[in-house]
Amino acid sequence: MSNDKEIIKRAVERHDIDSSIFQGRYVNFTQGKYTDEFIYGRYQMFEEIDAILSKLPKGAKVLDLGCGTGHFSSYIHTLGYHVTGLDPSTKMLDYARQNFPDISFVEGYSNTLPFEDNTFDLVISIEVLRYLDSKIVLESYQDIYRTLKPGGRIFITHVNTLATEGYYIFYHMKKVLHALKGTEYHNAYFTSASKEERTLKQIGFKHITCIGRMFASVRTGYKFGKTIGKTYAKVLEIFNSKQRFEKSPFKNFTGHLIVVAEK
Ligand SMILES: C[S@@+](CC[C@H](N)C(=O)[O-])C[C@H]1O[C@@H](n2cnc3c(N)ncnc32)[C@H](O)[C@@H]1O
Repeated sequence: MSNDKEIIKRAVERHDIDSSIFQGRYVNFTQGKYTDEFIYGRYQMFEEIDAILSKLPKGAKVLDLGCGTGHFSSYIHTLGYHVTGLDPSTKMLDYARQNFPDISFVEGYSNTLPFEDNTFDLVISIEVLRYLDSKIVLESYQDIYRTLKPGGRIFITHVNTLATEGYYIFYHMKKVLHALKGTEYHNAYFTSASKEERTLKQIGFKHITCIGRMFASVRTGYKFGKTIGKTYAKVLEIFNSKQRFEKSPFKNFTGHLIVVAEK
């Protein structure tokens, strides 16, 4: 099996296994923003998505690429957009279809999208390309570009190499441990705002913006339990309530790097 196929297969296997965990995480959403680091980050992403959607006419076509259990797709659907969810994990798709029977969910991969050219007004992809590598991310951007209408936009999240909780180091330590045990471990794509800007420009995207959201150390806080995590997040909010960085180079140190661009 080629290296690309192996990376793609591992990303799917990992999510087949984690599908029930994801389902559970979104069920906890009703318990509020400070429930855990996952939900804390998702609240910030929803704020960014809202800003994009506010400029999109109702009925516009949106692709939720790597839709998982379909919760983001559903959010977009309830706001009056025509959304399609795509995911390669059959386990994730089973949850998505059970959760939201009114939404269309299809099986597929980010770099070989099963859609016609010029189909979508917006493609969102939340924490998906992070399981791939530079080559497959580039192919994915190219195929997303193809399926976007002229003037259509992307909203894609990535993992910062320099995120302050040190995930880059932990990931590589785990990878070594897996290699020593002879077990498989999923790939991880680490990046920076300037790298994504260069790649998107090369493909032809314009009006490229990279936004950093959430102090990554919030994740470390929650490792010590919900009370400490929540208190730490609230203390950080005293200094920076939104934890949003667009012009500042600090965007490269945040927990979520978001790229927004236009075809
Ligand atoms: C961390 S989950 C995020 C799910 C959803 N976007 C969300 O934020 O709730 C990553 C998702 O990407 C999907 N995925 C993995 N490899 C993919 C690929 N090559 N193309 C598209 N989706 C992929 C997984 O199956 C999984 O559902």
